[in-house]
Amino acid sequence: MTEASAVTDAPAPPKAAVKPHLPDAQIVTSVKHWTDRLFSFRVTRPKSLRFRSGEFVMIGLLDDRGKPLLRAYSIASPSWDEELEFYSIKVPDGPLTSRLQHIQVGDEIILRPKPVGTLVHDALLPGRRIWFLATGTGIAPFASLMRDPETYEKYDQVIMMHTCREKAELEYGRQLVESLKDDPLIGEMVEGKLLYYPTTTREESPHMGRITDNLTSGKVFADLGIPPMDPEEDRAMVCGSLAFNHDVKAVLEKFGLHEGANSEPLEYVVEKAFVGDGI
Ligand SMILES: Cc1cc2nc3c(=O)[nH]c(=O)nc-3n(C[C@H](O)[C@H](O)[C@H](O)COP(=O)(O)OP(=O)(O)OC[C@H]3O[C@@H](n4cnc5c(N)ncnc54)[C@H](O)[C@@H]3O)c2cc1C
Ligand SMILES: NC(=O)c1ccc[n+]([C@@H]2O[C@H](COP(=O)([O-])OP(=O)(O)OC[C@H]3O[C@@H](n4cnc5c(N)ncnc54)[C@H](OP(=O)(O)O)[C@@H]3O)[C@@H](O)[C@H]2O)c1
Repeated sequence: MTEASAVTDAPAPPKAAVKPHLPDAQIVTSVKHWTDRLFSFRVTRPKSLRFRSGEFVMIGLLDDRGKPLLRAYSIASPSWDEELEFYSIKVPDGPLTSRLQHIQVGDEIILRPKPVGTLVHDALLPGRRIWFLATGTGIAPFASLMRDPETYEKYDQVIMMHTCREKAELEYGRQLVESLKDDPLIGEMVEGKLLYYPTTTREESPHMGRITDNLTSGKVFADLGIPPMDPEEDRAMVCGSLAFNHDVKAVLEKFGLHEGANSEPLEYVVEKAFVGDGI
């Protein structure tokens, strides 16, 4: 047997066991495509990475010239999870996601282990109810926060409002919420506390309309049987497009809530789900 054939005959190591060689490389452990423009994936977690549920990190791939091409991504998994989960758009000609959408189990991605962000419990004053308000992939930080026991320890009620154009775009969030009641860690805590209010705007579904409209009209309060927002009791976290964030802030301010930050906790906090106006 020649040396070359010995190498060829040797069983290939499982892809996930291959040592990372990109800078800050992590290995993809699963990928799920939800629609032609949305997918989620999980990667190994650096042992040293500590983060607060709701924060984001920079992730990416090498570009054609071998330079890191990085973008901000909310960590969708909770801080206790052994792996990291991300929920991503696929922008057809987007520098990163036109390539990232093709990752497979065993591939490497770059992950800079420096988590930051404003959608964290520490940036809010104590309250009775927490509202998670998201459009599109803006649900990602709340996928983390909805799986964090601290969310249910801190609040009597957790309201997840998620709005997309079409039903299929809600499915990642819907399945996640559905799975929580059977979760061994937080299943009992979630029971009766988590109120899920998904809506669509361009396809018929049980609940329709923009988050801003459903808050302003009072429809969501009537549907869920809870009182209108009150700065004494209600706290909110917002994540969507720039236009959405701008319009929701105006609605929250009308209810008397004020924007806080890590350095000055108040009644609501906001994070961009992406930068730019359109694909
Ligand atoms: C704090 C922060 C957190 C983010 N978290 C996430 C996340 O968890 N998941 C995620 O998919 N993206 C997230 N983004 C957006 C992300 O950083 C990239 O913009 C996205 O991955 C597209 O990268 P790209 O290089 O392919 O295209 P880019 O050149 O970055 O974007 C091209 C255009 O695509 C549109 N676009 C970009 N991202 C989105 C999106 N998420 N939804 C709808 N339209 C979009 C915008 O119009 C943008 O101008 C986040 C952005 C910020 C600022
Ligand atoms: N979603 C798709 O199927 C699709 C397909 C191809 C391309 N795109 C492009 O991708 C980009 C992002 O699309 P997206 O659907 O992820 O995000 P989006 O346009 O921000 O819409 C997501 C959800 O947020 C709502 N919304 C938008 N602006 C709002 C505001 N100011 N206040 C309250 N609610 C608001 C939308 O309602 P309305 O429906 O009422 O706007 C929709 O239900 C857009 O440029 C779009 O043209 C989207």
